[in-house]
Amino acid sequence: MLALPDFPWDRLVPYQDLARAHPGGIVDLSVGTPVDPVPPVAREALAAAADSPGYPLTYGTPRLREAAAGWLRRRHGVTIDPADVLPTIGSKELVAWLPTLLGVRPGERVVFPELAYPTYDVGARLAGAEPYATDGLLSLGPERVPLVWVNSPSNPTGRVLPAEHLRKVVAWARERGAIVASDECYIELGWEAHPVSVLHPDVCEGSHENLLAVHSLSKRSNFAGYRAGFVAGDPRLVRRLLEVRKHAGMMMPAPVQAATAAVLDDDAHADEQRERYARRRAVLRPALERAGWRIEHSTAGLYLWATNGTGCWDQVRALAELGILVAPGEFYGEAGREHVRIAITATDERVDAAVSRLQ
Ligand SMILES: Cc1ncc(COP(=O)(O)O)c(C=O)c1O
Repeated sequence: MLALPDFPWDRLVPYQDLARAHPGGIVDLSVGTPVDPVPPVAREALAAAADSPGYPLTYGTPRLREAAAGWLRRRHGVTIDPADVLPTIGSKELVAWLPTLLGVRPGERVVFPELAYPTYDVGARLAGAEPYATDGLLSLGPERVPLVWVNSPSNPTGRVLPAEHLRKVVAWARERGAIVASDECYIELGWEAHPVSVLHPDVCEGSHENLLAVHSLSKRSNFAGYRAGFVAGDPRLVRRLLEVRKHAGMMMPAPVQAATAAVLDDDAHADEQRERYARRRAVLRPALERAGWRIEHSTAGLYLWATNGTGCWDQVRALAELGILVAPGEFYGEAGREHVRIAITATDERVDAAVSRLQ
């Protein structure tokens, strides 16, 4: 049997029970799941495509691929041929299967950040490869690696990698023939920093060779329940992924393709959602600081990376006693043992409850 990490969320259950016992009810800031409505533009497109008896295209409809390329151009200054876009069933499945789909071999090392979304590690293991968490590529010495993940804005820290930093990663990888996969699922949620795509000319210097950008509609469009994302980049890699995904039946359902195209064409709902998160962040962050918490990074994305200087489980307990549930930093890597990750994905009413309890 494959050795996969224990599902760590089970360890949070006692703190969830503690938070639930609060007379004002639990404020669950432990996961980044959207709580606001799916925008009408999506629901209408989904309903209009409900009569979809035939198999959908693994490659996605031309309309969907054009919408994705249009969104990248309009919002992120990325020029890409719609032919070089491929829909995914949310981005988590792609993160988990990318090393396998690319043919990473047992024994090879898949590189990802020291503090990271756990699925990069899982994806390496599913391919029989070695997960390698590092923020310093130089620690690899001359070793050749097949795949390097970057994630900006970061889950869990909300850190944004400037174009200059990303450019260095790309240059390093290109010298060694490594693929850079950039998980950009929080790219539209920059607050005090401007996230930039790996496919932006300031980073890729005009060539998408060996680069893949991974996108998700889950956060931008409250689409986590629809399972919609896409990958875009190097035509050769996209073609390879398409071929394997066709054989493996990894296709986005047709009504979801229609809804995804509709939300990618529409910025109004995304701006509205951004405003909701901005407001929650603007009240929660100072409330935590006044209560003695230090917030690090967190210039973008849906999380506040916080510490009060004690161990992460003590911090989880302290907040659970106030009825506020957060995630221990340790879930994202050893380097997180003195931090907690606090999501801003709760309703205004729940966020306001947390703010008043922190006073
Ligand atoms: C960094 C990162 N990548 C990928 C995902 C997966 O998102 P989805 O599968 O909903 O597109 C998440 C979800 O929270 C995430 O934080």
